[in-house]
Amino acid sequence: MVDKLSSDTLVNLLKCPKCHCPDFVNTIDQLTCKNCSATYPMIQGVPVFIDDPNQVKIIPPDHVSNAIPEETVRWLKNLDGYSLNIGAGASQTKIPTCIELEYSIFHTTDVVADSHYLPFKDNSFEAVVSFNVFEHLYEPNRAAKEIFRVLKPGGKLIMRTAFLQPLHEEPYHFYNATKYGVMNWFSGFEIENCHVSANFNPVFTLAWLSCDLLYYIEQVYGTETKNKVAQSTLSEWRELWANPTQRKGFLWETMYGLPQPVQERFAAGFELEAVKPNGFDDRTNTDLNDLDRPAQAASISTYALQERINSLETQIRAMETSKFWKLRQKWLRIKRKLGL
Ligand SMILES: C[S@@+](CC[C@H](N)C(=O)[O-])C[C@H]1O[C@@H](n2cnc3c(N)ncnc32)[C@H](O)[C@@H]1O
Ligand SMILES: [Zn+2]
Repeated sequence: MVDKLSSDTLVNLLKCPKCHCPDFVNTIDQLTCKNCSATYPMIQGVPVFIDDPNQVKIIPPDHVSNAIPEETVRWLKNLDGYSLNIGAGASQTKIPTCIELEYSIFHTTDVVADSHYLPFKDNSFEAVVSFNVFEHLYEPNRAAKEIFRVLKPGGKLIMRTAFLQPLHEEPYHFYNATKYGVMNWFSGFEIENCHVSANFNPVFTLAWLSCDLLYYIEQVYGTETKNKVAQSTLSEWRELWANPTQRKGFLWETMYGLPQPVQERFAAGFELEAVKPNGFDDRTNTDLNDLDRPAQAASISTYALQERINSLETQIRAMETSKFWKLRQKWLRIKRKLGL
């Protein structure tokens, strides 16, 4: 048995992600919002705040995630208040005052929720940590704002995320961020430091890429080709970058012969072609985020408002039926925002 926060303590920190009400009726099998009556089931004793609780995966109890650095564990244990670990996986050291939030249920999970919509009251936590999660979030900016909201003034965030890492946990690997990208996500914070932690030393970039690349080369071409690539030198690879006349021969052709799904794991970048869907009207197509700005909406005339409603209805229909996953996600987020 892991040492978890008592259900009452946890409920005191929660708020309804739909209507922001902090009061719940707490029964054994669910939490019910006292304001909007939304219900959040308890699955294996864990409150579940995601749209479709049937989708929650239960992870076998022998699963363990990466260890949190010892000094971070010590710091979290000594805090005078609660902390939050976002995308905690199954922590190796369960700290009773550190709430482990996950999208799945691991044996150490305290709350299931989407990190883009944290079900906690403002200014709740002394600290937030999140390790190896932000590359898996579809809207890291939004998740960063949520962390800002739930931290107490003076509260501290420690997070780690990917830069030069090959594709993993696809399709839920959205961003590899540069140092400047990471700082941009958290630009509302006072950033004390953004550096390469020991676990992200460049040795891991080359080691992970080589490991995955050789694996896929063997899958595609067989062991003989894999062994030949394994014996290539860094100097040979450098020539392919530095000297365009050398872009031919075994290494070059092997890499160009890899099928697209394999290239996607290691590529230097992507080319996207995209079409604006029919039914989107330029005259009235303001971004749906404008729904966040009621004062601005109120200032437009009734006619323009009617035009806008018509346009939004068309956009909503297009989003609801879109074959594009991202658009359907956007619609789900808007629905949640509107409490629909
Ligand atoms: C690579 S694992 C990292 C786990 C652990 N922090 C570690 O360092 O080993 C990423 C974790 O983020 C969780 N996750 C992904 N998207 C999430 C979301 N939107 N909200 C909450 N957790 C999420 C996944 O379930 C997964 O356990
Ligand atoms: Zn509610």
